[in-house]
Amino acid sequence: MYLKHFIAQNYRNLEPFDVNFDPNVNIFIGQNAQGKTNLLEAIYFLALTRSHRTSNDKELIAFGQDYANISGHVYKIQNDLALRVLITKKGKKVWVNRIEQAKLSKYVGQLNAILFSPEDLDLIKGAPALRRRFMDQEFGQVDSEYLYFAGKYRQVLQQKNNYLKQLAQGTAHDTLFLEVLSDQLAGIAAEVIVRRFKFLSYLNEYARDAYAYISSSKEKLTINYRPSISEITKDDTVEQVYQKLLTRYQKNQQVEVLKRTTLSGPHRDDLEFQLDGKDAHLYGSQGQQRTIALSVKLAEIQLVHHLTAEYPLLLLDDVMSELDHDRQSALLNYIHGKTQTFITTTDLAGISWEIIKKPQVYRIKAGKIYLEEGKMNG
Ligand SMILES: Nc1ncnc2c1ncn2[C@@H]1O[C@H](COP(=O)(O)OP(=O)(O)OP(=O)(O)O)[C@@H](O)[C@H]1O
Ligand SMILES: [Mg+2]
Repeated sequence: MYLKHFIAQNYRNLEPFDVNFDPNVNIFIGQNAQGKTNLLEAIYFLALTRSHRTSNDKELIAFGQDYANISGHVYKIQNDLALRVLITKKGKKVWVNRIEQAKLSKYVGQLNAILFSPEDLDLIKGAPALRRRFMDQEFGQVDSEYLYFAGKYRQVLQQKNNYLKQLAQGTAHDTLFLEVLSDQLAGIAAEVIVRRFKFLSYLNEYARDAYAYISSSKEKLTINYRPSISEITKDDTVEQVYQKLLTRYQKNQQVEVLKRTTLSGPHRDDLEFQLDGKDAHLYGSQGQQRTIALSVKLAEIQLVHHLTAEYPLLLLDDVMSELDHDRQSALLNYIHGKTQTFITTTDLAGISWEIIKKPQVYRIKAGKIYLEEGKMNG
């Protein structure tokens, strides 16, 4: 799939612009704070209706304005779509082919985008929350049920945690209601966990291949899901996971009241990356950790393709300069001819231009986007 026509109005510092992107490679060159990340964020938002940088949508509206509007025309193998998102201070609305969609889960997934920024290089050594967010964002865009259950889980979890606080403070006394909440939470959690296992089994395979492709060494990469309850295994059914979680919630009820929080479930689960069976978080070199992070993103591209028969957009925010020449060329060769790619950079130097065939080049200055005359290498 590719994004052709794109319009952003009142989006952060971006000046209104109207552009037809290149179906292959688009490069945006600009100094710091000119709007490069804002542009990629706007494209990402059009796809996922959420930002990778903030959960507060209001920040996206240009200073002094009441709304932001993003729209684009997406071309797919089977059809083409007009997408639109309107962000106001009260919330957001979405349209597909000018028809408003009541549910975001009906909208997300029409346009797929994988974003890779320098922070993603921390996927391996960063906090577990980073890896959970990774799963929620990436799996949510290929599976509307995952998106639904992950959102529902957050909601019921918060409800249960609030109730635990009330019980601890003595403003509530009914433990029967706590049991109802735990039961509901276990049911939703099981749906999330079983789907995570499923998508990770695909991702594992693709990431292993990508790692072998990028790295010059011979280690084998494996990704494991680490549930907060070790009895849960990858072959469990939804019903089995539900039972195991419920048993744990029942056993831990008093401790949870005491700690005023839910101690197990998808919000406490983690991912583990291994190289030849050794935990890469502990033993991997920085270079190996980066290569794993890159491999996982590339695996994501394959996962989207496997599930939708389309390649997602690839948004590379300032990562080229973070990668050495060999990894850059491995990356570019890997995606060549598959994904529509958007690359931002402050500096032309340090990028292996010879591998990028005929990119469309733009300059960004103070939120204005200029098309550079003529194509590079062409
Ligand atoms: N809601 C907003 N309204 C107007 N301007 C905003 C808003 N939010 C952020 N900005 C401005 O956008 C600019 C930053 O844009 P962006 O993060 O895209 O920079 P960048 O080109 O990616 O820079 P760098 O190379 O440092 O990453 C900042 O000057 C910031 O003040
Ligand atoms: Mg930036």
